[in-house]
Order: sequence, then structure tokens, then C-alpha cells
Amino acid sequence: MKSIKVKVDNVTKTYRTGGRSITAVRDCSFEVAEGEFLSILGPSGCGKSTLLRLIAGFEIPTKGGIYFEDGLCNGTISPQRAMVFQEPALFPWLTVERNIAFGLAFKDSEKEDKGRLVKEYIATMGLVGFEDRFPHELSGGMRQRAMLARTLVNNPEVLLMDEPFASVDAYTREILQMDLLRVWGEELAPAIRKTIVFVTHSIEEAIFLGDRIIVCTHRPTSLLMEVRPELARPRSREMIVKRYFVELKENLSGIMRDQVLKSREIERLEGA
Ligand SMILES: Nc1ncnc2c1ncn2[C@@H]1O[C@H](COP(=O)(O)OP(=O)(O)OP(=O)(O)O)[C@@H](O)[C@H]1O
Ligand SMILES: [Mg+2]
Repeated sequence: MKSIKVKVDNVTKTYRTGGRSITAVRDCSFEVAEGEFLSILGPSGCGKSTLLRLIAGFEIPTKGGIYFEDGLCNGTISPQRAMVFQEPALFPWLTVERNIAFGLAFKDSEKEDKGRLVKEYIATMGLVGFEDRFPHELSGGMRQRAMLARTLVNNPEVLLMDEPFASVDAYTREILQMDLLRVWGEELAPAIRKTIVFVTHSIEEAIFLGDRIIVCTHRPTSLLMEVRPELARPRSREMIVKRYFVELKENLSGIMRDQVLKSREIERLEGA
């Protein structure tokens, strides 16, 4: 039986700013199994980033518990749980190689081993020849690959990805998705895969990547439903045209439209 890597247990998060309070997440519960690729869909502003930040430990739940391998970790950050954002957060004053090596500087291992690891991830993410470039000299897709390399070199067990490919063009996005599946371990036994929680606005991306898709309600968000795309791995683009995929996509599109309309209504009432 697979063990549970992350557990979100009846979590509520209320922000209090400027005398107002906004509940972004309410009574939300779900688990992520070890080695699982979980996609999260939900209308804009519903609380998906909040959920990821809670799992990362950047935010403290107002109620409920976040567990990492059975241990309560409310508000506790750890290198085991790494966040990847939409905009790659590279240091502009460091080269690609130094950006990737940055996290390792705090690790207690031999300099040579660190150098080898950095080179390995430069190769894995297709950045050979760009080691000495600065972030502003790279394309958006390359910056995101460098960011992935910088994150992966620390060997986190859980990757929390917040719309990581939203700002690149459609073709680059497809390639980045394949890169991600490779480093996740699509070709490897499930037991040695990383665990990924991947927030996206693209239904197609959620289906193509995920073992399971969680659909979140409008704010305050909670779990609306979950589906498991019955697509074998390794997956290919051709599968996208298969009937099952199209049906599932239409189904999810209808549900998402409904949630977006409800979100608008909530915002309208709040603004009134
Ligand atoms: N630090 C904060 N302080 C106050 N309110 C916040 C804070 N962060 C988020 N919120 C509010 O919580 C709600 C959920 O925000 P969140 O960023 O989690 O949504 P999201 O689902 O990630 O949206 P999007 O899809 O647009 O990225 C929003 O109403 C937002 O304004
Ligand atoms: Mg967000």
C-alpha cells in the first residue's frame, strides 16, 4: 500500500487585512500519496495558491492540520517541500550555474559532489552551454528550466507547483510538461517517484499530467470533486485526441465554468 506523503486535514485559512477578513480555504481535506502526481484545478481567486503555501509552510492554517509523512507541520517550512512559482524566482545577479548551486551552498557535502550534481541538473534540464548566462539573457522557458534545476538539485520529496508553465508559449509548455514528467519519474517505479502537487488553469494540462485531479470550489475553497484520468504512462500527446480525454475535458470544462460564474457572483456581492 502507498504511504501518504501530504495530508490536508480539515483546513481553514482566513486572512485578516485592513479590518477585513477573507476566508480563502474552508474545511478542506485531501491526501497526496507518495509518488503521486496530483493536479489541482479551481476558479481564479478561489484559494489554490493559499493551499500550496499552507502545504509549503509559508502560511499557518487558521484551523486544521497540514501533515507531512504523519508529522504535523503547520507553518513549518522544510527543504523537503519545495515551491515552484509561475515566474521563475532566479537571482538576477547570479549565472545559471551559480543559481542552481545556490541551494547546495548550505548543504554539508563535498565541493566536488556538489559540482557534479549541478552539472547533472544542467544537463537534465537542457542548459548545457548556458551555464555562464544571467537570467535576463535566457528565454522564459529556459528560466523556468533553470528554476526547476535549482529546485530539483536539492532533491525535495514534494514539489508544490503554482501554475509553473503559465507564462510560456504553448509549444514550450508542452516540452516543459514532458521535462517535468521525466524528472518526476514517469518511467520509474511509482515508489521512487517524487510527489507533485500541481496547480493549473489548464484542464488539458491537469489531465495530461495528473494521476488524479482535484477540482476546487469557488472561494472559500474546498474539494468539489476528484477524478482519475485513465491514461497509461508514459503518456503521449496522441492520447489527448482520444475520446476519453475529450469527454473528460468537456465534463471538467462545464464544472469549471459553473464555479467561475459562482466566483464572479461572490465578488459582485462583496463589491456591492
Ligand atoms: N496574503 C493575503 N492577505 C489577504 N488576502 C489574501 C492573501 N493571499 C490571498 N488572499 C486572498 O485569498 C483569496 C484566494 O487567493 P489565492 O491567491 O489563494 O487564489 P488562487 O486560487 O491562487 O487564484 P489565482 O488562480 O488567480 O492564482 C483571494 O481572495 C485573495 O485576495
Ligand atoms: Mg494562484
